[in-house]
Amino acid sequence: MANTILVGAQWGDEGKGKIIDVLTEKADVVVRYAGGNNAGHTVFLGTKKYVLHLVPSGILRRNKLCVIGNGVVVDPVGLVSEIQGLRKLGVKVGANLVVSETAHVVFPYHRELDAQREVLKGEHKIGTTKRGIGPAYGDKAARVGLRMIDLVNPERLEAKLSQRIKENNEVLKALGAKPLSFKQVLAEYRKAGNYLKPFVANTVVLLHEKMRRGEDILFEGAQGTFLDIDHGTYPYVTSSNTTAGGACTGSGVPPHPIDRVVGVVNAYTTRVGEGPLPTESPVIADMLHAMGREFGATTGRPRRCGWFDSVATRHATMVNGIDELAVTNLDGLDTMDVIRVCAGYRRGKKVYDYIPNDSQVLTECEPIYADFLGWRTPTNKARRWKDLPPRARLYLEAITELTGAKLAIASVGPAREQTIFV
Ligand code: GDP
Ligand code: IMO
Ligand code: MG
Repeated sequence: MANTILVGAQWGDEGKGKIIDVLTEKADVVVRYAGGNNAGHTVFLGTKKYVLHLVPSGILRRNKLCVIGNGVVVDPVGLVSEIQGLRKLGVKVGANLVVSETAHVVFPYHRELDAQREVLKGEHKIGTTKRGIGPAYGDKAARVGLRMIDLVNPERLEAKLSQRIKENNEVLKALGAKPLSFKQVLAEYRKAGNYLKPFVANTVVLLHEKMRRGEDILFEGAQGTFLDIDHGTYPYVTSSNTTAGGACTGSGVPPHPIDRVVGVVNAYTTRVGEGPLPTESPVIADMLHAMGREFGATTGRPRRCGWFDSVATRHATMVNGIDELAVTNLDGLDTMDVIRVCAGYRRGKKVYDYIPNDSQVLTECEPIYADFLGWRTPTNKARRWKDLPPRARLYLEAITELTGAKLAIASVGPAREQTIFV
């Protein structure tokens, strides 16, 4: 299959989990490289639904190695319960999962600070998942974080955690929040550390060994391009490099062995949380929500929905180097009479064919739409390109051309078989 980076090319929840599951068939190793359990990647196998938060979606296929890379922030208590949940569903989790010893650890004070900062921001809140992601990456950058290698060493964990709890309790008290019990956190994290110890290893050395043997790596992006800490709609972003570059820094695999970048997009646009979404439209949001679709996989929040934004996806092609596009949820548009596609933005007299960096300016941009006639035919049974209604093909060709990448996959349902290779 070659070494492939898969990224979300919008605001997250593009259906990365489903496409990863499909592409894993031809990969040997699947690596998560950024984010934490803020992610929710859904995979359906038959009638069984799996929602992966930290464990790579590749875990659902036999004989594939899954790696949680150094760029991920790991909530160990969450990871333990995710592993236990998967095992209960009959999924084998053992030597096929390896966690980087240099991945940073999320602690309860990160979650508490995340929540408190959102309260302080009031109407300017980010709408985070409250999983402690921002404060955990903050501690990593400030060089006061604990890593998995510390978690699995009980003495080191005790010494370092004692310092961190002391400092963070002062901050929490100042914010009017309840301080944490060192004893309780230590006991909980020791238990999780003990459980996870067999999974923790030097994943950089491991991945390079795999590459030397000619094994193919699939990098599983989390979140999406416009949630990237550098390239997203700052400050309404997550705290990691979700874009393709993050795959290298977050795994220790350098750029030159990467053969291709696949960008995943919904056939429309969604966003969960606050921040600009230029093509947001109640027409499409009401339609999708009435069908029971587009509710968050991690928090259950209804996702905001809008028309396909080719200004955004073109930008995503640029910053990620997207070669191939996987378009998901095409079937979500099956009932529409008219389908709009944003081809540019207008603000006053100025026309933009790129995303302005100032979030305020972006909020004031009006989309310039091109309208397409809907196909008004169910697509969920299509298995080949020629099974799709001509108007659906035209729509797919138009959005991929505007995005500037080659159409590789069209997805017409959550199941593996509802995948059309173009
Ligand atoms: P991710 O975070 O990018 O992995 O995406 P999520 O799992 O959060 O959200 C995508 C949702 O769309 C999930 O419920 C998937 O099962 C579902 N999904 C993915 N592709 C398709 C598709 O082509 N059609 C339909 N109907 N659902 C899809
Ligand atoms: P997957 O991998 C969609 C959003 C949150 C919020 C912002 C910051 O399933 O696509 P954070 O908790 O990371 O500090 O929240 O980012 N967000 C996501 N939105 N999909 C995700 O992951 C997300 N992970 C974070 O809603 O707006
Ligand atoms: Mg998701």
